[in-house]
Formats: sequence, C-alpha cells, structure tokens
Amino acid sequence: MVKKCLFPAAGYGTRFLPATKATPKEMLPVLTKPLIQYGVEEALEANIKTMAVITGRGKRAIEDHFDISYELEHQIKDTSKEHLLTEIRSLIEKCTFSYTRQVEMKGLGHAILTGETLIGNEPFAVILADDLCTNSNDNVLKQMIEIYEKYQCSIVAIEEIPKDETHKYGVIDGHLVDNTEDVYRVTNMVEKPDSKDAPSNMAIIGRYILTPDIFDILRETSPGKGGEIQITDALLEQAKAGKVIAYKFKGKRFDCGSVDGFVEATNYFYNKTKG
Ligand code: G1P
Repeated sequence: MVKKCLFPAAGYGTRFLPATKATPKEMLPVLTKPLIQYGVEEALEANIKTMAVITGRGKRAIEDHFDISYELEHQIKDTSKEHLLTEIRSLIEKCTFSYTRQVEMKGLGHAILTGETLIGNEPFAVILADDLCTNSNDNVLKQMIEIYEKYQCSIVAIEEIPKDETHKYGVIDGHLVDNTEDVYRVTNMVEKPDSKDAPSNMAIIGRYILTPDIFDILRETSPGKGGEIQITDALLEQAKAGKVIAYKFKGKRFDCGSVDGFVEATNYFYNKTKG
C-alpha cells in the first residue's frame, strides 16, 4: 500500500522571478488554487492521506496554507465568501501534513533523501507540484498506484516529448512488458541529456512511486548533472536490477515551472470552469 506522498518544495523557482522572490513557487496560483494544492488533491484522490513536504527557507506560506486561519475564518463566517475556503478546509480535515527542511540545495535526489525521516521504510509517492496533471478519469497518481500494485517496484510516469527538449528531463530507455502499450521495463535512464545522447524521447514527469531502498541508494549516489544528487541516477541503480517501470500515463500535464506551461494550464482550467 502506498500511504504517503512526498512533495519536494525547497527549490528557488528562479524561472519565476521576481514572483518567487518572497513567495514559494508552489504557492503560485492557477486560477485561485496554488499549485501544491492541486498536488495534494491528486494524492488524496489516490487514497493517500499523509503528506510529507520538503521545504526550505522562505517556504513558510506552504505550512500556513494547510492550516486553519482562525482570524480569516472568523472574518468571513456567515458571509457570501465563506464557501471559498470549503475545499481547503476539507483537505486540512482529511489529510495530515508534516514538514522537514532541506538545508542545502543539493538536488532533487538530496531533497527526497531529506524526506526519509518523514517516510520511513515503506513505498511512497512523489509529486513535483510544478508538473500539474489532470485527467477526466483516474488521476495520474491513482493510475501509477495500480501499476505499482502489479509490479511492486519503483514506477516513473513518462511522456513522449520532442527530441530537442530532452535536456529538460530525465529520459528513459526500456522495453514494453506484458503485451501492454504503455508499461516499460526501464533499462537505462539519463538526466537531462543533449538530444544527440538521449536514449529515447520518453521523458520522466514529476510523478514517482519509489520503494524505500531508494534512500540507501541515494546516500551512495554521487553528484551528477549540474553537480546535484539526481533521483534519476539513483533510479538507474534500481533499473539495473530490473526494478523500475516507466508508465505512459493517461491525461494531460502542464509544465508550470515554465511561463508557457503555466499560461497554458491557466487557460485550460479557466476554459473548463466556463463549461
Ligand atoms: C526533475 C528531474 C527530471 C524530471 C523532471 C520532471 O527535474 O530531475 O528527471 O524529468 O523533474 O519535471 P527539474 O524539472 O526539477 O529540473
């Protein structure tokens, strides 16, 4: 059973400066909801109620968001605005949130390792909140948990990307398993390769299910691309033992870490509310 979801949220969000100078990038709203709330809702829909957040300096707004603001609630009680807090209140009631800080910015792998104290020795999900995912049926994480239940090893969500964008992603190589169309056994993975070195055009997006042995591997993983400890490199160790599945998910993903993706997501969700 996957019962916990880790949200690495310590990054600086430099692509959104100056907006992210004093505001965590995970708190940037698509319409009226911050990115991280979409992620928490996705986890909850996948029956995960324990949220573990890796924060850093300047990220306190995330903790405040998933807490009751008595003053505000008192102020809008019995007014026409009260319903605006219904969704977030219900999340706060249904989930528990715990936090730990990544003191040094040493990469996504290092952030995930920092979460060991909140996760312990069990499989867990990872959501990178700036990859905003949506689907009309089961959400991406829910789909991945089904795949995990079948294969009982680490799962990464993948998407085909234009070959000239491989330098933005972890890229996998693998072979289809069990006569499926969308499940690959991973044989290789490379963090942000140049297109000429990329093993395929199948890119990892910000959704993972990881088995807890990843922590021991991460402890031994040397800095890779950009001098940072990369989750892709740690996963490659599991992949060499045949223990990583890549799953081509059903649904849409918006790269809200980029201005273009953020605007696309905003337009998409806006048009959806207009019916
Ligand atoms: C991270 C990972 C990368 C993955 C991407 C998905 O990169 O390192 O392998 O493809 O997330 O969003 P980042 O976008 O944090 O640079």
